[in-house]
Amino acid sequence: MIVAFLALTSAAAARASPVVHPQQWPRPAPALPPDPRLEAQIDALLARMTPAEKVGQLMQADIGSITPDDLRHYPLGSVLNGAGVAPGNDKLASPREWLKLADRFYEASMAAAHGVPVMWGTDAVHGHNDIPGATIFPHNIGLGAARDPALLERIGAITALEVRVTGLDWTFAPSVAVVRDARWGRTYESYGDHARLVAECGAALVEGLEGRPRTSAFLGAAHVLATAKHFIGDGGTGGQDEGDNTAGEEELREVDATPYVAAVGVGVQTVMASFSSWQGVKMHGNRALLTGVLKERMGFDGLVIGDWDGHAQVPGCSSVSCAPAVNAGIDVLMAPGSWRDLFVNTLAQVNSGEIPASRLEDAVRRVLRVKLRAHLPEEGRPSSRPFAGRLELLGSPAHRAVARQAVRESLVLLKNDRRLLPLEPRARVLVAGDGADNVQKQCGGWTIDWQGASPNDEIRPAESIYAGIRAAVTAAGGSAELSPGGEYSARPDVAIVVFGENGYAEGLGDVPSLAYGDEQRTVTLLERLRAQRIPVVAVLLSGRPLSIEAELAASDSFVAAWLPGAEGGGVADVLFRTSDGAVAHDFRGRLPLKWPRAPTARGGEPAGPLFPYGYGLSYGVKRRAPR
Ligand code: BGC
Repeated sequence: MIVAFLALTSAAAARASPVVHPQQWPRPAPALPPDPRLEAQIDALLARMTPAEKVGQLMQADIGSITPDDLRHYPLGSVLNGAGVAPGNDKLASPREWLKLADRFYEASMAAAHGVPVMWGTDAVHGHNDIPGATIFPHNIGLGAARDPALLERIGAITALEVRVTGLDWTFAPSVAVVRDARWGRTYESYGDHARLVAECGAALVEGLEGRPRTSAFLGAAHVLATAKHFIGDGGTGGQDEGDNTAGEEELREVDATPYVAAVGVGVQTVMASFSSWQGVKMHGNRALLTGVLKERMGFDGLVIGDWDGHAQVPGCSSVSCAPAVNAGIDVLMAPGSWRDLFVNTLAQVNSGEIPASRLEDAVRRVLRVKLRAHLPEEGRPSSRPFAGRLELLGSPAHRAVARQAVRESLVLLKNDRRLLPLEPRARVLVAGDGADNVQKQCGGWTIDWQGASPNDEIRPAESIYAGIRAAVTAAGGSAELSPGGEYSARPDVAIVVFGENGYAEGLGDVPSLAYGDEQRTVTLLERLRAQRIPVVAVLLSGRPLSIEAELAASDSFVAAWLPGAEGGGVADVLFRTSDGAVAHDFRGRLPLKWPRAPTARGGEPAGPLFPYGYGLSYGVKRRAPR
């Protein structure tokens, strides 16, 4: 009995502290030069702040649970709008309402004695996607396929500008997870399964959002704070959201850390801790990785934010009390509805010394450093800032054109028998499948609604894939008939069938297998058309590779379109020739992750992927080799 107990406690102890060797981890060159003036400014602020005001900087509340007035009693340092949360509890609130509320929070924070402005974070993860009217880009998985860092930087800059229009300061993007198992519901938030690809894409987006470090653009009036998330290893948990990454230290360092090294190297100012665990230890309580590796070894001098009540999952903690997370290195606790009691308890833990004074000072210093670097005190009220209220920038034609370019570049051609593509636009085209005229399905999760359930008319401006096809063919003298079920009034020359996954986000998108549930209906439709000798182009909408062997066999051409967002016209740009017969846009997307085969009939592991990483056909226009 005693032996068993000892064995148990030593096993628990071993799980509690997997060994990390920070000195073996990479150390990027500092993105910014030391700034003694900035540090002196922080010293002066710190000297003026009471313990309660300092603790306040460590908390972030959700706007659904806090009012600007509350800041008078609880001097919190930041707020967020969680997914689907909007001013006045109205998800369709106008951008002006967002700006008004940002002003009210700002003014309330400046009325406090310390005069440190509050900042507001949002999940602008594929454009400013909580705001009706914003430009909606493809989700990250498609941008990983596009492999175009300059485009990513542009997308980051546009997103930043649109966030600025609404007076917000900070986006919780990019996710730089290196996904290893596509059953994970956050696969589409990842740029792919290769660390270097994810690192390159993530760093480019950060540069677009924040502006390049050591230039005057950096955190200037057109930019916002970015967040590399979720530190670390969230993509390696066997397809389970908030799961356990059991990789050894070397894999964690070589794979999962690579994008963070790149993001820190371009000056990312905030990093979000992961809900997941590494070798059984919750990341929110992992001092060795948060402090030893990220802050001390990599030299990250911005702030670490926890995820949505993520501290509550640390052993011994609850959503309203968690000194271990602060002591491990979390600087800001995301405490959406739990902030009030958490504030009281954290203050008591500071007063009792459970949270050492040095840790409190360091955390607040980091928060203030980020706020000062972002020029928050000088910038004044959100509505008085240069791009605030410039509603014409939200979803502007120029921004939408970049989103459409991103759609074109993200498409991956998996099959093209007898060179069916590119199509002649002067043709009679049948557009079928439940994804054909379905902006909701194109956009997926994190688009007004967290789970991607916003009705089509809530996502505007937008063009469905069908609308884009119709525009292309009618301009050339052809015609397009929309029929989700595949019936037609006049025999078509070709059918384009658009199908795939319905929206999901986070753990609700975890699946036990890569079947998408609608195979039977889709394959029947494809086969029915082919039986009538109508050539068939299949277009798959999905946040991940799916089991598509039967659909591939039943179509002549097959395009993986990922979750392209609101600019469905980009699909027609690539599928069709121009009216004078030229190919304006070739396929240039390459798989950002391997495409697995379906498990064998006996449930065994199939040999090799269906398509390898980097795969993608094109019309034959000369191109660079896939990386
Ligand atoms: C997600 C984060 C997100 C946060 C705030 C969490 O559930 O894991 O990625 O930034 O919510 O909305």
